[in-house]
Amino acid sequence: MAGLRVLLCLGALLARPGSADLEAVAIAEVHENVTLRCGSASGSRGLVTWYRNDSEPAFLVSSNSSLPPAAPRFSLEDAGALRIEALRLEDDGNYTCQEVLNETHWFPVRLRVASGPAHIEVNITASGALPNGTLYAARGSQVDLSCRSSAQPPPEVAWWVQTHRISEEFFGKNLSANSFTLMLMSQNLQGNYTCSATNVLSGRQRKVTSELLVYWPPSSAPQCSVEVSSESTTLELTCNWDGGYPDPTFLWTEEPGGMVVGDSKLQTLSPSQLSEGQKFKCVGSHILGPESGASCVVQISSPLLRTSQPMKTCFMGGNVTLICQVTGANPPARIQWLRNLTQPESTIQPSSRYVITQQDQSSSLTIHNCSQDLDGGFYFCRAENPVGVRAVDIWLSVKEPLNVGGIVGTVVSLLLLGLAIISGLMLYYSPALCWKAGSSFRGHDMGDVMVLVDSEEEEEEDDEDDKEDVAEEVVQETSETEELPKERGTHGHIHRVTALVNGNLDCVGNGLQEFQDESDGQQSDIGQEEDKPV
Ligand SMILES: *[C@@H]1O[C@H](CO)[C@@H](O)[C@H](O)[C@H]1NC(C)=O
Ligand SMILES: *[C@@H]1O[C@H](CO)[C@@H](O)[C@H](O)[C@H]1NC(C)=O
Ligand SMILES: *[C@@H]1O[C@H](CO)[C@@H](O)[C@H](O)[C@H]1NC(C)=O
Ligand SMILES: *[C@@H]1O[C@H](CO)[C@@H](O)[C@H](O)[C@H]1NC(C)=O
Ligand SMILES: *[C@@H]1O[C@H](CO)[C@@H](O)[C@H](O)[C@H]1NC(C)=O
Ligand SMILES: *[C@@H]1O[C@H](CO)[C@@H](O)[C@H](O)[C@H]1NC(C)=O
Ligand SMILES: *[C@@H]1O[C@H](CO)[C@@H](O)[C@H](O)[C@H]1NC(C)=O
Ligand SMILES: *[C@@H]1O[C@H](CO)[C@@H](O)[C@H](O)[C@H]1NC(C)=O
Ligand SMILES: *[C@@H]1O[C@H](CO)[C@@H](O)[C@H](O)[C@H]1NC(C)=O
Ligand SMILES: *[C@@H]1O[C@H](CO)[C@@H](O)[C@H](O)[C@H]1NC(C)=O
Ligand SMILES: *[C@@H]1O[C@H](CO)[C@@H](O)[C@H](O)[C@H]1NC(C)=O
Repeated sequence: MAGLRVLLCLGALLARPGSADLEAVAIAEVHENVTLRCGSASGSRGLVTWYRNDSEPAFLVSSNSSLPPAAPRFSLEDAGALRIEALRLEDDGNYTCQEVLNETHWFPVRLRVASGPAHIEVNITASGALPNGTLYAARGSQVDLSCRSSAQPPPEVAWWVQTHRISEEFFGKNLSANSFTLMLMSQNLQGNYTCSATNVLSGRQRKVTSELLVYWPPSSAPQCSVEVSSESTTLELTCNWDGGYPDPTFLWTEEPGGMVVGDSKLQTLSPSQLSEGQKFKCVGSHILGPESGASCVVQISSPLLRTSQPMKTCFMGGNVTLICQVTGANPPARIQWLRNLTQPESTIQPSSRYVITQQDQSSSLTIHNCSQDLDGGFYFCRAENPVGVRAVDIWLSVKEPLNVGGIVGTVVSLLLLGLAIISGLMLYYSPALCWKAGSSFRGHDMGDVMVLVDSEEEEEEDDEDDKEDVAEEVVQETSETEELPKERGTHGHIHRVTALVNGNLDCVGNGLQEFQDESDGQQSDIGQEEDKPV
């Protein structure tokens, strides 16, 4: 039955002869062919006449062949059914079938003609559309979605969304038109938005699905940086412009001139391409702008070296620190210490004697326990990056340690040392004074280390400070070998000498007091206050 389509037929079975008030309903779509049954009876019928029964009945077709149909679209089928071809919207209405047998029967039929929806009009005010038609909206922006469709009868228009988080969310339905607004677009509102228009009569539905993406640009400006690759053979330019979605595109150019270097975030350059002061510019472009792109520039440069002291002195057995500072190197330079520049591979390796520490672009080499044979000579600090290499030399001279500047000082020291020993012996024999300490002093007299300290400033200071100063000076002597000779040199005259023997300051102070009183005529304040009865 080509083209014949009865979508729904309600109550037809109830339409018994004589019960004209029980109405059958037929639903069909426009342009289709429909057949309306005359009651539920089948087989041969009496004289059947069909009327259109709106305000007043109008003849359509009859089984009396001498009566022609009102229009060729109307015809009778088996069992007195009315066939209407090429339905029009005006065909929607009430029909009545009249059957004349022994008595006359009336069968009312209601015909509903549905039309559409033929199309659906969706409008989304997003930020823009991708080349493939997909829409995108900026995060935080407002998006209006509207959907319109027409049909007979008016369709139900509904929106729903499908995101990665929500499988399906329904935004409600309305007749003919439906619109809503998303106030603040966020990432979890990215998804597929579908509008559907449904003809409730025919059940015909049309849908339009629009994928709406949510984009945002990186929040900060791009950062250009340059590094040496892990194999230290090439230079790596990095353009950091993260945090946006989707990922921006990059373009590296050489400035000035704008020669294109590459179009990836990470760009590798071989040293042969490099020259001092060269500038590289990275322009990052994101779909949400800015239009001209965001850029940063990086300039490469070879290291410059600075050493404050081109000559250093170390006392035998002491420590010395050589410092080398690199400035202006971009990318940061690798700093090495060498003894012989013509053998760059034989760099000084850290050991118990050579301690190399590097902080940022400053490197220091500390040599412990200086020895004249091994350590004297030239040292080189070599700084290298793919742009250039620089080296600077430092001359290290290793000297015999001299405690007191000048020969006079040495002689006096020796003299004092002798006197100190004598004083110690005297202490030993005067039991009232510090017997305990005296005995320990005596027990170690041969192996004891005696450090004689010259101090001029100390005499103006009080006891407590005096003691501390002595201790400090001893410490200084061991740690900062360089400064010691200078200080000695400035103190031409020795006012007072204190000695520290095995850390037993009190006793020695007492022992020396006698000597000092005699030789210098000055009062030593060390002994007096410390001289408490034991
Ligand atoms: C309706 O019937 C006519 C004649 O039988 C046929 O040509 C036409 O294709 C049919 N229309 C539809 C929509 O089926
Ligand atoms: C037309 O319809 C009305 C109500 O549905 C009914 O009372 C009347 O008999 C019908 N007329 C004819 C000619 O079918
Ligand atoms: C058809 O009949 C029903 C009652 O059976 C009535 O409500 C309706 O208005 C009629 N339609 C037309 C187009 O006259
Ligand atoms: C058929 O219609 C013609 C013309 O109206 C009429 O004369 C004739 O009586 C009708 N036949 C029947 C069986 O009603
Ligand atoms: C119609 O009437 C005839 C005689 O008048 C009778 O034989 C027949 O059974 C009747 N038909 C119906 C359907 O009532
Ligand atoms: C369109 O392109 C975007 C980005 O390339 C992609 O995410 C999306 O799935 C594409 N849409 C269609 C319908 O191909
Ligand atoms: C449905 O449409 C009417 C007017 O067309 C409007 O007032 C109403 O707010 C709409 N309802 C929804 C849920 O969109
Ligand atoms: C939207 O639909 C496209 C194509 O039908 C699909 O690739 C994508 O994953 C869907 N997106 C969501 C959020 O469901
Ligand atoms: C440096 O090394 C070269 C080659 O081994 C050697 O000839 C030269 O004497 C060395 N110079 C110093 C200062 O050690
Ligand atoms: C310092 O070096 C000398 C030889 O140069 C060695 O005898 C001595 O043990 C070393 N001292 C320390 C603390 O390493
Ligand atoms: C040299 O440094 C080492 C380690 O820091 C330290 O133990 C030693 O006392 C120092 N020697 C001198 C003479 O300053």
